[in-house]
Amino acid sequence: MKIAVIGTGYVGLVSGVCFAECGHDVICVDKVKAKIDNLLKGIIPIYEPGLNELVESNMRAGRLAFENKIGPAVKESEVIFIAVGTPPKPTGEADLSYIEEVSRQVALAMDRYKVVVEKSTVPVKTGEWVKRTIRFNNKAGVEFDVASNPEFLREGSAIGDFLKPDRIVIGVESERASDLLRKCYQPIIDQSVSFDLETQKVIHQAVQDTKVPFIVTDVHSSELIKHASNSFLALKISYINAVANFCELAGADVEQVAVGMGLDSRIGTQFLHAGVGYGGSCFPKDVSAFLEISRDLGYDFKLLADVIEINTRQREIFIRKIKNALWILKDKTIGILGLSFKPNTDDMREAPAIDIIKSLQLEGAKIKAYDPEAMDVAREHFQDTITYCNDPYEVARNCDALVLVTEWDEFLNMDLERIYELLHYPIFIDGRNLFNPVDMKKIGFEYHCIGRQIPR
Ligand code: UGA
Repeated sequence: MKIAVIGTGYVGLVSGVCFAECGHDVICVDKVKAKIDNLLKGIIPIYEPGLNELVESNMRAGRLAFENKIGPAVKESEVIFIAVGTPPKPTGEADLSYIEEVSRQVALAMDRYKVVVEKSTVPVKTGEWVKRTIRFNNKAGVEFDVASNPEFLREGSAIGDFLKPDRIVIGVESERASDLLRKCYQPIIDQSVSFDLETQKVIHQAVQDTKVPFIVTDVHSSELIKHASNSFLALKISYINAVANFCELAGADVEQVAVGMGLDSRIGTQFLHAGVGYGGSCFPKDVSAFLEISRDLGYDFKLLADVIEINTRQREIFIRKIKNALWILKDKTIGILGLSFKPNTDDMREAPAIDIIKSLQLEGAKIKAYDPEAMDVAREHFQDTITYCNDPYEVARNCDALVLVTEWDEFLNMDLERIYELLHYPIFIDGRNLFNPVDMKKIGFEYHCIGRQIPR
């Protein structure tokens, strides 16, 4: 298959590279020339495990190309995936101007039948607007289909999520579009191209008889599946965070409650980890956009407003925990472990660490910080207002409290006795419930966490 992917952000780049790995000829397009120039030199704009290697090998195999212009890529391809950004407006609504611009340019370049696929996360009914825009600009008058194909990739495990998905969802209006999209995904549906979670490697032999479910819906339902899925996952997190707050008042332990709940297969154990709340470029944006589009359509989806509110409050509750542990923050030195919004990424968009650091600074605290991958991104963000360290031990040295915000494995494996010795005050505030309160107490820490009882 000949495929064009427009937009080389997270979704576009991972999708393009994985389609190439499936044996298709892929052209990835981006209007930012510097990004394309870098990609051609093998410089990848994001940190994603395994991505560099796949870009390199597929370019070498001649299956993956990068272009600055949409026109030639559209002409060469049968299927065009739109994977440009849909950032939030101040109202929470998704800004669809990039989608519109790309739809127009695709239409102007179309010279024969094409399937134009929305891959970016978009509100329900965007497909109708894309179709209308293409119809108005389709100078050559060629046939086309608009389809929806939401992505369910998590940062940090995006390649595995693409090649070994729980399901593939497409929304179409014709069998022709459905057949072409099925062809794009056939190696993944058959699992002849898959991903081994143990070795974290791509594999090219069928390892299982079970096929990946390929769900074909109408375009509106497919668009909605994405917003409804992300919002449901965010709801699960806010729910367990609310339960954690309740546990603190009731003398219960949220970790035990989550295990007891999660073993009910109707609930499931995933996304029941209490902490400082969700962040990233997806959940905050998608829950707000889903709420806004519901309002537009005349339904007040109050539950989503509560999900957002609980998430915002969770950061405030955590900041209060730090203040309660230290009393006066002015001139105290606080060490932050973890800056990215979750482990295995350098992404700091909507990261809880940003709000936490800013509030502590407002009260006069001095901040030292370390993250295994996000230091460069953090430097751009905080400039010289915080001290950047090379490892957790440098952070801990002479700090009045150590605050863990992101649960990187490196922190799980650190020498806690050494950390204890290095701290000025032995205060450890764990925003991800990474450690055992009894063990932490044994070492000598005054340990604070989320929704668990601390032995006195
Ligand atoms: C999320 C979805 O999981 C993907 O399926 C989806 O494709 C993607 O958004 C997207 O729309 O593009 P992602 O934002 O990469 O993926 O990260 P997650 O692993 O889902 O984590 C989101 C946030 O929830 C993180 O801040 C994480 O720390 C937090 N979280 C997650 C919790 O606080 N508790 C949990 O139990 C799980």
